[in-house]
Amino acid sequence: MPLRTALTELLDLRHPVVSAPMGGVAGGALAAAVSNAGGLGLVGSGDRAWLERELAIVADTARAAWGIGFLSWAVDDETVQWALAEYQPRAVMLSFGDPAPFAESVRAAGAVLMVQVTDHDAARRAVQVGADVIVAQGGEAGGHGAGRSTLTLVPAVADLVHPTPVLAAGGIADGRGLAAAVTLGAAGAMIGTRFEATTEAVLTPEEGRAIVAARGDDTSRNRVFDIARRSAWPAKYTARMLRNPFFDRWQDREDVLRDDFAAQDVYLDALRRADPTALPVWAGEGVDLITAIEPAAEVLARIAAEADAALARAARRHIDEL
Ligand SMILES: Cc1cc2nc3c(=O)[nH]c(=O)nc-3n(C[C@H](O)[C@H](O)[C@H](O)COP(=O)(O)O)c2cc1C
Repeated sequence: MPLRTALTELLDLRHPVVSAPMGGVAGGALAAAVSNAGGLGLVGSGDRAWLERELAIVADTARAAWGIGFLSWAVDDETVQWALAEYQPRAVMLSFGDPAPFAESVRAAGAVLMVQVTDHDAARRAVQVGADVIVAQGGEAGGHGAGRSTLTLVPAVADLVHPTPVLAAGGIADGRGLAAAVTLGAAGAMIGTRFEATTEAVLTPEEGRAIVAARGDDTSRNRVFDIARRSAWPAKYTARMLRNPFFDRWQDREDVLRDDFAAQDVYLDALRRADPTALPVWAGEGVDLITAIEPAAEVLARIAAEADAALARAARRHIDEL
């Protein structure tokens, strides 16, 4: 029986699954594929050229609700207003930073306001700004985030912000994870890394192979790459990525790297040349469960069916044990 939750009701979805707005990875094709398969697809943030290209794709090809994710610390209100007016997304998610400066624009446009949080203070702030959906992201997640684990953060946030629907994010890559999210009190899951390994994601073949080959043990949450590329990401957010030789050289030496401008110059030069050994592959602990690059619709259908089966199994077991 399909899972019905506050999220599926709010956005008229077949499955309580949102694909994460992965910067540079979740373009219009991935968002549209997820939305057309019954989830909610979100386009990731990027510069104006990325947004114009990818939002045009999703607006042309999605036949159901889709949305956009913005980084609160980086975006400006003009960009948010432009995207809302030009493309009319059904949902907008604000992550990492204070959502207050943009919340009113999103709500005024009639879009569903989603806010991604990594701790209790941010969850309280999300309620204050009128979030319709709050995404509680645990540290297992790929990409930027913080330290809390999904298992403890999700039920705590669900209690804290009740009755606002909460989605679980971080480490969910199959139907068992979706079933667990719902059991923890979430109205569904936001999934990044599993959708990163799809045919519609913007990913090189090498990056895809690295994700399929990696285990969760091969990931690390750190600031090495943000320091090396002199990124403006606020220091409280670390990022989970696949370990690589550059990381191994600087692991536990972030303070040294911060003052080593020559090393940063070498790294920036490698990035400009798109040297594949320098480019970080952001991915979460859920890589354990990824064995192939597949179409997003297949991934979503399987996750939904597995979640149904896992919940039915759990219910049967309970009855058997009575
Ligand atoms: C490659 C990649 C890029 C990401 N970029 C963003 C981003 O630009 N904005 C954002 O809000 N979250 C971003 N995230 C985090 C996701 O929103 C989400 O919290 C995370 O993917 C969930 O955990 P999972 O990867 O284990 O499924 C990114 C995640 C990945 C894997």
